[in-house]
Amino acid sequence: MELRDYLRVIRANWILIALSALIGVAVSTGYSLTATPQYQSTTKLYVSARANDSGATADLAQGTSFARQAVSSYVSVVNSASVLDRVIADLDLDTTSAALASKVSASSPANTVLIDITVTSEDPVAAAAIANSVGKNTAYVVTTKLETSGQGQSPVKVQTIQTAVAPTRPTSPRMSTDIALGLVLGLGVGVLIAFLRSVLDNRVRTALDIERTTDRPILGVISLDHDAAKRPLVFHTEPRSPRAESYRSLRTNLQFTNLDNQRSYVITSSVPREGKTTTSVNLAIALAETGARVALVDGDLRLPKVAERMGIEGAAGLTDVLINRARLADVLQRWGSGQLYVLAAGLLPPNPSELLGSTAMAALIDDLTGEFDYVLVDAPPILLVTDAAVISKSTGGVILTAACGKVKKNELAASLRALGQIGSHLAGIVFTMLPERQADSDGYGAYTQMALRDSAADVPGGRRARRAKGK
Ligand SMILES: Nc1ncnc2c1ncn2[C@@H]1O[C@H](COP(=O)(O)OP(=O)(O)O)[C@@H](O)[C@H]1O
Ligand SMILES: [Mg+2]
Repeated sequence: MELRDYLRVIRANWILIALSALIGVAVSTGYSLTATPQYQSTTKLYVSARANDSGATADLAQGTSFARQAVSSYVSVVNSASVLDRVIADLDLDTTSAALASKVSASSPANTVLIDITVTSEDPVAAAAIANSVGKNTAYVVTTKLETSGQGQSPVKVQTIQTAVAPTRPTSPRMSTDIALGLVLGLGVGVLIAFLRSVLDNRVRTALDIERTTDRPILGVISLDHDAAKRPLVFHTEPRSPRAESYRSLRTNLQFTNLDNQRSYVITSSVPREGKTTTSVNLAIALAETGARVALVDGDLRLPKVAERMGIEGAAGLTDVLINRARLADVLQRWGSGQLYVLAAGLLPPNPSELLGSTAMAALIDDLTGEFDYVLVDAPPILLVTDAAVISKSTGGVILTAACGKVKKNELAASLRALGQIGSHLAGIVFTMLPERQADSDGYGAYTQMALRDSAADVPGGRRARRAKGK
């Protein structure tokens, strides 16, 4: 992954990350508001070896080094029952030494003769009182029980150098710290989930995913348009919209790749609902816009949608011609003011693959190619049925649509393999339903703009054209 990929994952999942951060903040705020405040109070003890009467420096140094070593054992004494039981008795507490031990912590800063004793309690005054009592009783136990020299005076001296006082502010919850922590944790969890999702995601999401799968060109990029279902013929109804422009650049790219003068194409996809029909009808209109004669055939005899999308009568069509029930000229319907003719699917047969693979079908496409500048055949998905593969035998090229976030990488690879195995000529891929945001971040925004300028003049050149011709 490059930095760009990381940024893309974060950008694509920003809602999830923001939500996770929000949950983090909400949980920590909730905790801060409901948790019982805890107070901490600390006392400090100083341990020293009782100096000899001689007061010699050597003795003093020896005493200090002894105290330093001893202090680490005294730290454990603080929490022992022998000290805490005395505290409980002194303060008349209603608890056990084990329960009290969990509230008392002792430590000794490295290489010092100090012992810090900290007591946590819901009551600030009690925290201080307990801390002081623990300090006093630690000193008592150490000097009278543990370090006795037999002559009455202990060789060790334990002094309190800081008395515990009742704190005015609780140590927890600390609203601002807790919220900051919740925010950071929430963000972290969100980012983690986002990356897990992207690692586990095997759908085609970027143009790069396609380029990694095939070296055939991406002929066009159609952005995601939530109104596509309501207004499928956006090219027609909104000729200046970006989506219409993307069909124009698809048209231009198709013209560039059309080096062997193939003029008939079958449009298919790996799985259903990848925008085959939408691409077919809009590309047909885009081609007719240039004044070319275009025939659009609904070759999807399982789920025909062309007639419906174009708002024409679909009762008679392709199947009627194939079984000789109607003449082509009678069922071919002119659409719009240009030279666009549409052949609907007609009655649905029980044996679509057989019909589409018949010599009648090959002859029909031959006829159409002779009469029209472009022939487009809308077909079912290639991984589901053989129809598209069968039709591709009679057409000059295949246009494969791949829907962003819908088709899986292995599915795209499988359909490319299938097309390769039957020796179909893949003209290129149309990447559909690309979210606008991503279109920009992938540089396809600029790409489309470039395509616009080129397609307006229909001149060769430009980055897109070079790309379209293959690398
Ligand atoms: N660019 C797009 N953005 C959003 N929705 C789209 C787009 N293209 C097609 N659709 C919608 O996706 C669905 C499937 O499209 P369609 O062209 O019928 O796919 P197919 O022919 O591959 O099954 C339809 O509801 C259509 O309106
Ligand atoms: Mg369709």
